[in-house]
Order: sequence, then C-alpha cells, then structure tokens
Amino acid sequence: MAGEDKKPGGPDLSRGIAAADLAEGAMIAGHVGDDEVMLARRGGKPFAVSAHCTHYHGPLAEGLLVGDTVRCPWHHAHFSLHTGEAMAAPALSPLTCWQVEERDGKVLVRDKKTFPAPKATGSVSGRFIIVGGGAAGFAAAEMLRRRGFVGSIVMLSNDDATPVDRPNLSKDYLAGSAPEDWVPLRGDDWYAENKIDLKLKTEVTALDANGKELTLGDGSKLKFDRLLLATGAEPIRLDIPGVGEKHVHTLRSLADCRAIIAQAKSAKRAVVIGASFIGLETAAALRARGIEVHVVAPEKRPLERVFGPQLGDFIRALHEEHGVKFHLEDTVTAIDGKRATLKSGGALDADLVVIGVGVRPRLTLAEKAGLAIDKGVTVNECMETSAPGIYAAGDIARWPDPISGERIRVEHWVVAERQGQIAALNMMGLRTPFNSAPFFWSQHYDVPINYVGHAEKWDTIDIEGDVMKRDCVVRYKLGGRVLAVASIYRDKESLEAGADMEKRAGKAAAPA
Ligand SMILES: Cc1cc2nc3c(=O)[nH]c(=O)nc-3n(C[C@H](O)[C@H](O)[C@H](O)COP(=O)(O)OP(=O)(O)OC[C@H]3O[C@@H](n4cnc5c(N)ncnc54)[C@H](O)[C@@H]3O)c2cc1C
Ligand code: FES
Repeated sequence: MAGEDKKPGGPDLSRGIAAADLAEGAMIAGHVGDDEVMLARRGGKPFAVSAHCTHYHGPLAEGLLVGDTVRCPWHHAHFSLHTGEAMAAPALSPLTCWQVEERDGKVLVRDKKTFPAPKATGSVSGRFIIVGGGAAGFAAAEMLRRRGFVGSIVMLSNDDATPVDRPNLSKDYLAGSAPEDWVPLRGDDWYAENKIDLKLKTEVTALDANGKELTLGDGSKLKFDRLLLATGAEPIRLDIPGVGEKHVHTLRSLADCRAIIAQAKSAKRAVVIGASFIGLETAAALRARGIEVHVVAPEKRPLERVFGPQLGDFIRALHEEHGVKFHLEDTVTAIDGKRATLKSGGALDADLVVIGVGVRPRLTLAEKAGLAIDKGVTVNECMETSAPGIYAAGDIARWPDPISGERIRVEHWVVAERQGQIAALNMMGLRTPFNSAPFFWSQHYDVPINYVGHAEKWDTIDIEGDVMKRDCVVRYKLGGRVLAVASIYRDKESLEAGADMEKRAGKAAAPA
C-alpha cells in the first residue's frame, strides 16, 4: 500500500534462530534491519549472504547449494558463500556477506563483512584487446579487472551503445515495462573508473594473428599482447523483395530495438516472420503494447526443433491465448508497403514487420586471419583459438563441451558471459577450462522456460508434471542418457540437472 513501510519478511536473524532449524544444506530467508538476508549451512558452517541475486533479484533461498556456492533459481548465477563473489554469470556483482555466530544453540547474524581487494594472480600487465562490446566481451573486461589485471584493456565495438543487457531487448524493454536504466550492463562512468578504453562505433576490419595486430575501419593499426574475439552473431536477412523498407526490422542491437519501439507507438498490426525465440518474444512484447500480431513461419510447431512437440504445442497455445495469430507452414515471399504476401497465396497487412529467422555467427575476421574454423571459431577448453594468445568466446566459439563430449556452438547469453569470464582468466595465464553446463532461458508473457544442457537430437522425451499447466520438467534423452532438461516453474530441478551434468562430466563448473 502506498506510504506503508515495507519491512523485509522472515525471521529477524540478528536475534537469531535455533541452530537445529538450520540443518546441513538448509537455506532460510530472513532479515537484519532493513537488509534481506539468507542464512545457509554448508559443511557444518553457517553463512549469511544477501537474500536476492544481483542479476534480476532471484530469491536465493529457493536456489541450490553446490560446494561452497549458492546457485540462483532463475538464471543459474553462482555466488561464493564465503565472499559473495559472483563466480559465474549472469550475475556480475557480488552479494553482501555477514558475520555469523553460533552459540548456546542459536545462530545469530552479526555485522556486514568487509574484504580486502583480492590479490592479483597471473599475468597482470600488457595490452589486452577485446573485439566486441557484447555479453562475452563485457564479462571478460569485468573479470580481468576483478582479478587484478592492471595492464591496458581496449574494447572495440562497432555498436554505438555501451554493452547492453541484450536479452531484455526482446522482453520487458521492448514491451515498454523496463526503464531505460535497466538496459546498459554498466553506466558510462564504469569504463573510465575501471580504465577500460571502450571505443564505440569502431569496426575491426582485419587481424594479423602472427604480427599480433588489428586494423580498424579508419586504417589505423593496434598491437596487442592477448586478444579476445567476441564478435557475436548477426540476424539472417531474408532475400525477398521489400526487406529494405523502413517498417521492416531485425532485432540485435539497442538501436534496432529503439527503431521497433518508435514504430510500435503508432502501429496497429505487426507481422513477425519466424517463430524463433526472438520472433516469439517480440510477438509477446508487441501484444503487451496492444498491437495485433501475426507470426508467419515455415515449421509445423514453434520451437519444436529445440523443445520437441509438447513444449512446441504449449508455446503456440500460450501465444494464441494472448491473441497471436499463427500462419505456420507458410512464408512471406514479398513485402510491398503494408502488404506482406504469403507463399500460401494470401496476404497480411502490417505497419510493422520484424524478421526473426535466426542469426549467423560473425566469423569474417577470424576466417580471414586464417584461424581454425568449424562452423564457428574452433577453441580449446580454455577458449584459445588455433593462434596462441588469441581467444574467442560467445556466439562465435565452438568449444569441446565436456558434458555432451562434443564440440558445440550455442547462442546463449549466460554461456557467452561465462566464456568471456573464462577467456579472461586464461588471458591472464590462469589456466581454467570452461566446464559449465550450457544454460538459457526464454520468457513468453509470464512464463519463463529454462533449459540446461544441449540436445541436437534425442530418441525420448520424458515429461514430469504437466506442460499445459505450466509446471513441468522435460528431459531430452538419447540412448537412455539425459542430454538436456527444459523446465517451467521447476527451478530447483533445473539447477539440479545442471549440477548433475557437471558432476557427471567430473568437473567443477564455477569459472574461478
Ligand atoms: C533480442 C535478443 C534477445 C535475446 N534473449 C536471450 C535470452 O533470453 N536468453 C539467452 O540465453 N540468450 C538470448 N539472446 C542471445 C544472446 O544475447 C547472445 O547469445 C549473446 O549476446 C552473445 O554474446 P556475444 O558476446 O557472443 O555477442 P554479442 O552480445 O552480439 O556482442 C558482439 C559484439 O561485437 C561487436 N562486433 C561484431 N563484429 C565487430 C567488428 N568487426 N568490429 C567491432 N565490433 C564488432 C558487436 O557490435 C557487438 O557489440 C538474445 C539475443 C537477442 C538479440
Ligand atoms: S536473477 Fe539470479 S541469475 Fe538471474
């Protein structure tokens, strides 16, 4: 209620709780003054950290304890229980930690802990260049400084915006329900404060891998000691008449998103070409703006290739419930002003068209430099390419995934950030393999779908719970082995599945 004091809930942990109530592995949310605090017991020891994740505020007490970390239920960030450090993205900022005392059968939370700046290990000098101001590039720069790298960091991006929270561009921000300041990953000042020389609107046109030199769009040259390529992916453009028209858009950058929002303000009817994640999330965001939305796509069921038929049907039904009209097993063959012609013979009127038919990794730089390429830039487990000292991460990287035992390339935000973090450690000489279970999430209206693992094909889909009731765990199996798990409102199971996969692969998943 307006004007009412909102006191944090749960027990007052400064007064303490019975030690017996904090069993091994338990997590209890409470408060200390106005701070929401989570108390957990691990290895017999009690720990107190912030109750909410620093990414999107996920409730950590509903997460999972793995080793001496807590994993967030929403998008699987890992935090150290000892120091609060965000060990694995998507959270980047640490949790606050409190001193805990256990005496006379009680556990009491005391003062906030402070930590000295961590001592740098590994190589801390030289010039490191990052090509790309996206998920992987930003996370790498942030990790380099976090780990005490004091040399020069230059980040080159052909975008005109500082690194943004890209997943938001097809969700709340596009729907008009997220404020402007949610979008940048860090404010403008952060780059200067951290001595990161971020050069926007700067195209890197060539890489000399042997000479360790980049050429920029203006012809100037830049030498480096270590390089990270994180050039991401670009939307596939359709080769049909009319795609160049002003009301026809793709969605990758903040500028793309703003152009769609500007047009959405007066649009009444939109056609989304492609029932991809971005296509469907865009459809949901445009429905939230009250626009009539038609989705045209060649497949029989949306997202069936990734999720299988049951979740595909659910996603279709969910969008239909919200008024989206599907034109499946069909394509748009031409756009002529407001008219989008369909292969099936009909036509749809639209004052806004968004094309979401997939992306292509931006490989040109790496290819021309002669780096090993295999439908992606080939990297080893430490994210190093075939050229020593040159690393690649994110949408462009094909890495040896210890969980599937295959070399894979994915287009997931969390994977890109974590690979950027791992690349940073390896650039500093701290040999650290990338072992995380691949993870992505997608949001359609109020329904989040989490997916952990990687399954390009399967022979069995096991469903626990009820897909249509939005309460399920869907396991994709091949030869009896679980390759991937999708879930709706079963966050704990999703976390357990990821931890299990990492355990089976015999690795610790955290980047540091
Ligand atoms: C709208 C949208 C929503 C998404 N939602 C989700 C989601 O919900 N969940 C999920 O898991 N994934 C999501 N993704 C995918 C996710 O954003 C990507 O997997 C991730 O951004 C990849 O990170 P990256 O660093 O490899 O590339 P990017 O983030 O694309 O960054 C690449 C950077 O490189 C720059 N660049 C490229 N070439 C050059 C060059 N030659 N010179 C200079 N700079 C260059 C680009 O301008 C850009 O700054 C979404 C993607 C989009 C577009
Ligand atoms: S809210 Fe915790 S990882 Fe996103």
